Amino acid sequence: MDETIRNDIYDQAVQWVLEAGTIIKDEMNAPLDIETKSNPNDLVTVLDKRIEAYFVKNIKEQYSNHLIVGEEGYGDSITSLKGTVWIIDPIDGTMNFVHQKRNFAISVGIYQDGVGEIGIIYDVMSDILYHAKKGEGAYKNKEKLPQLTTDVKLTNAIIGMNHFWLCKNRLVDETTTQDFVKEVRGTRSYGSAALEFAYTAEGIENGYLSLGLSPWDVAAGIVIVNEVGGVTTDIDGNKINMLEKSSILTCNPILQDEIISFLQRGRK
Ligand code: IPD
Ligand code: CA
Ligand code: CA
Repeated sequence: MDETIRNDIYDQAVQWVLEAGTIIKDEMNAPLDIETKSNPNDLVTVLDKRIEAYFVKNIKEQYSNHLIVGEEGYGDSITSLKGTVWIIDPIDGTMNFVHQKRNFAISVGIYQDGVGEIGIIYDVMSDILYHAKKGEGAYKNKEKLPQLTTDVKLTNAIIGMNHFWLCKNRLVDETTTQDFVKEVRGTRSYGSAALEFAYTAEGIENGYLSLGLSPWDVAAGIVIVNEVGGVTTDIDGNKINMLEKSSILTCNPILQDEIISFLQRGRK
């Protein structure tokens, strides 16, 4: 992507993300009209919809040839990643948003012909913006994030993963995941995939595993993690297809092979 064009899109995207954060803060104490989607724990509120609609309206007005993939369905239905595609999760961590009013994020990834060019993750309540342009490093607000440490091994790693990994699940035998949890130094579960990617990029987690995520959960995070030397694949080590749901491993590259081989022991 041409640098001038990318800088313009990036500045505009950051402005909209910050404005969307202000809308959320201003309106989060009004009735949220909470509904459920795929299951009783899959929540959506009037603000998830309102924020996605806000992005779609602005993007379509300003960049009429860009395409949009959004969780709440206000964007386009796409079958290819050709062109400039915005991949948006208006509120990632809706359960946290509803129950805790914190620990949720706005996530915006911008891809050109399938290549991640811009990633923005905004922790709204902490007012922390994680952002990156491909090839230019990743930032936490104005601070440039260092490259990930080379001094880590599985036994002193902190890995983000939720408790469904320890229940009977369709991907890995639970005795293997229980052994994995005992092998690492600690696990964390923050309830927002986007924030787990941001924490992996920041190096406060050494990796994050998910049984299944959608493109809007990971699009921004992949760009940000890449910029500090991190890697993202599915749990078998395959490249992520940004048009489909998949399992996810994002981590410090030093841990990647070991985590994948560990989980393969119980892979179904
Ligand atoms: C969810 C969160 C959560 C992850 C789920 C996602 P949502 O996104 O990222 O941490 O475990 O798989 O669906 O629904 O709050 O946007
Ligand atoms: Ca999400
Ligand atoms: Ca969401």
